[in-house]
Amino acid sequence: MTTVSSPDRAHDTQGLAVVIGGTGGIGAALVAGLQAQGFEVLSLGRSTHPALDYAEETTVAACAGHVADHLARTGGPLQRLIVATGFLHGATASGQRAEPERSWQHLSADALQHNFLINAIGPALVMRHFLPLLPRQGRCVAAFLSARVGSIGDNALGGWYAYRASKAALNQLVHTSAIELARRNKEALCVALHPGTVDTGLSQPFAKTGLQVRPAEEAASDLLAVIDALPAGSSGQFFDHKGLPVPW
Ligand SMILES: NC(=O)c1ccc[n+]([C@@H]2O[C@H](COP(=O)([O-])OP(=O)(O)OC[C@H]3O[C@@H](n4cnc5c(N)ncnc54)[C@H](OP(=O)(O)O)[C@@H]3O)[C@@H](O)[C@H]2O)c1
Repeated sequence: MTTVSSPDRAHDTQGLAVVIGGTGGIGAALVAGLQAQGFEVLSLGRSTHPALDYAEETTVAACAGHVADHLARTGGPLQRLIVATGFLHGATASGQRAEPERSWQHLSADALQHNFLINAIGPALVMRHFLPLLPRQGRCVAAFLSARVGSIGDNALGGWYAYRASKAALNQLVHTSAIELARRNKEALCVALHPGTVDTGLSQPFAKTGLQVRPAEEAASDLLAVIDALPAGSSGQFFDHKGLPVPW
């Protein structure tokens, strides 16, 4: 499977965009949207070559090495790093099933571990291995898809303990890495983004209960517009798909 879109030379385009989780509902729409914007796009996920699987820590470093080689070959730069991975329900790494908890009675170590692995630990490993690949000068953006339900200030309904807590952890990781990133490049931006409620496998079981969902293409278009319009000084913050700040 070829994961790098044509044209194959970054300097003929706006630069390279890497989408981790480009195999997901929103991720695939982001890949298409970035290609339409003129970026050369590299999509990484468990089914791409090379594969990136958060359950295998070495694959994150190996994929970063693949991107570094590509940048060295083409002259770069890496202009967009978008992390569109996430987990809400389904099979965990141990083979058990996890669903969003309606009560503390449903809390399980296995589901908590898997939510934290996919929603926080994996993206943290991406920060470690991919943020150093961003250019040391000029505007560039790293965006991590979070969720409004990860906001503690906005939590009036309760429930969904593992997903909420793991996204809150992601938000802290984004804020912390943005501080370190600014020491390398004052124009680099690192943000958490809420995509809205979107028609994907992740939201599908909840759409049955009347949840209003938007097409992934619309969400991706909104998110790319927000990324393009992020003002200087907005690094380390949490925005929704309209570009409005979300409380931590
Ligand atoms: N959909 C919504 O309504 C909604 C709302 C708020 C926030 N979000 C957030 O938006 C992001 C994208 O969600 P989505 O709706 O597009 O979900 P999705 O269609 O289920 O996609 C999830 C992505 O995560 C990847 N992933 C899962 N486990 C992984 C692992 N072990 N290692 C590496 N990648 C792994 C999947 O890769 P595979 O293809 O290999 O499975 C897939 O690319 C997530 O962060 C989600 O929390 C979504």
